[in-house]
Amino acid sequence: MSVYVVTGVSKGIGFEFLRQLSEDKDNLVIGLVRNKTATETKVAEELGGDRSNVHILHGDLTNYASLKEAAAETAKIVGDRGVDYLVANAGLVPEFDAFGPVSALSDNIDQVDRLTAETFQTNVTGQLHLFNLFVPLIKKGKVKKVIAISSGVGDVDFINQTEMDVAPIYAASKAALNLIVAKFNAEYGKKEGILFLSISPGLVDVGRYENSTPEQVNVFGGLVGKLVAYAPHFKGPITPEESVKAVRAVWEEASVEEGWGGAFVSHLGSKQWV
Ligand SMILES: NC(=O)c1ccc[n+]([C@@H]2O[C@H](COP(=O)([O-])OP(=O)(O)OC[C@H]3O[C@@H](n4cnc5c(N)ncnc54)[C@H](OP(=O)(O)O)[C@@H]3O)[C@@H](O)[C@H]2O)c1
Repeated sequence: MSVYVVTGVSKGIGFEFLRQLSEDKDNLVIGLVRNKTATETKVAEELGGDRSNVHILHGDLTNYASLKEAAAETAKIVGDRGVDYLVANAGLVPEFDAFGPVSALSDNIDQVDRLTAETFQTNVTGQLHLFNLFVPLIKKGKVKKVIAISSGVGDVDFINQTEMDVAPIYAASKAALNLIVAKFNAEYGKKEGILFLSISPGLVDVGRYENSTPEQVNVFGGLVGKLVAYAPHFKGPITPEESVKAVRAVWEEASVEEGWGGAFVSHLGSKQWV
């Protein structure tokens, strides 16, 4: 029996974390979302059965007060058991830089600045606040694991090897997240026995490109071509179910004692990103 807090459980990979983790009735799963009512409805409609082990709380990564409130609500729910796993899954995958290289960001400067700030607030600063607010609960838990869902696109060696030029701001935000995770490990890893680990979920089909324009489909095709050159076994995106199973296997294997603290690995537990 474990207590999990997972952010961004409204859809995509986060909803799949919620689904898999709450299948075991002995687990307690607390999901943080921006729209609590909509997610509660989705849980009731799509997961069905008894999900009384699921609690949905409001928490917006761009709003510190809401995260503080979510941590306080979590403390009331879990009591002395604390939190075993904090899974920082929520993230902003912005569209403004998704289909172009850095040079495409030289126009509309105000918009680029605004959307970059929002991306960093969500993917970096918001995560930093989340970790600080939940560390006291993690200290009380038995397992003591904090997992940041990052992305292989933030790996410099991968960018250099593949010449993957799209999504520069998103990639930079995930690289910054990885660094913050390493800093938390520096403070709490060996001293407190808390594992802080960044894991990329692989390339996962969450329906993001369903309404893409022909130009965007073209860019995506180029990206897939680079992935095939990087990893000839690559057959396309994996399902959320496959990704979550793999990510869970990695965090189960990982420990501070075995030297995983502050690391950044893929769903395969390595630097192989797809
Ligand atoms: N899918 C992939 O191929 C892939 C690859 C590498 C990494 N990732 C990472 O995996 C994680 C999940 O991504 P996904 O593909 O499942 O994306 P998604 O379907 O867009 O889900 C993103 C989740 O994050 C939440 N979120 C966004 N901004 C937020 C904020 N300010 N405060 C709180 N929650 C917020 C969303 O909530 P709302 O419903 O309120 O918008 C949603 O629940 C992300 O960290 C992403 O960077 C995904």
